[in-house]
Amino acid sequence: MSQTPFDELSSEGYVLAPSLLSADLLNVQTEIRSVEEAGAHLHHIDVMDGHFVPQLTFGSAMVAALKKVVQRPLDVHLMVSHPEVVLDDYIAAGADFVSFHLEATCHSHRLLQRIKEQGVGAGVALNPATPVQMVFPLLDELDYVLLMSVNPGWGGQNFLPLTIGKCQHLLQELRCRGLENRVLIEVDGGIHPGTLPAMMQAGARVFVAGSAVYGKKDRKKALQDLSAACRESSDQVGK
Ligand code: DX5
Ligand code: ZN
Repeated sequence: MSQTPFDELSSEGYVLAPSLLSADLLNVQTEIRSVEEAGAHLHHIDVMDGHFVPQLTFGSAMVAALKKVVQRPLDVHLMVSHPEVVLDDYIAAGADFVSFHLEATCHSHRLLQRIKEQGVGAGVALNPATPVQMVFPLLDELDYVLLMSVNPGWGGQNFLPLTIGKCQHLLQELRCRGLENRVLIEVDGGIHPGTLPAMMQAGARVFVAGSAVYGKKDRKKALQDLSAACRESSDQVGK
């Protein structure tokens, strides 16, 4: 029985989501194809507004264009102030999963309901400095929690180890409520085969990776290395 919208993406117990931010943006279609052929489960699309974070990236028109060529679903990460203003545009453009930042709106519960009403996977993202308890009142409404393991805004930063404790705490709360198979933990920032195992063991199941996939010439090897890190750490999970 399918418990989360992620279940259809992977039978392996983990989901690998290359972040388009680190791709060659002059050759997006080729780049997308290369990671799909290499075994990517999901495409992570970082939306930046020049306000919540300093950089500007992909508009909903870009998501609509991607939607025409991708074979895997689109995981849209809104790093924008007032996500309620643009949310529906990204869903209409073809987002399959949408997360917004808890720090960016005071109406997160209402926003989650709006995402779910439209049949899209609903997630909330937390900056490294935001206590994980902030998301606890929302757990019943969520498909996933995106824990930022770098400060949002750029690819290629170093993983922040404080994320491990936050993830363990979140997993513990999910288990207490019997939600550990219904609400997945996604981790984003500085993920590579060296940092992934600690997060897998702490309970994360969806791994965003920019530099560790698009930053490598051999995409197949990059994804194989991440898969191997997931598999090797899976027998330690929850210990
Ligand atoms: C950072 C973005 C990430 C970024 C990750 O603000 O949310 O998705 O692309 O890139 P790496 O994996 O290089 O840290
Ligand atoms: Zn992201």
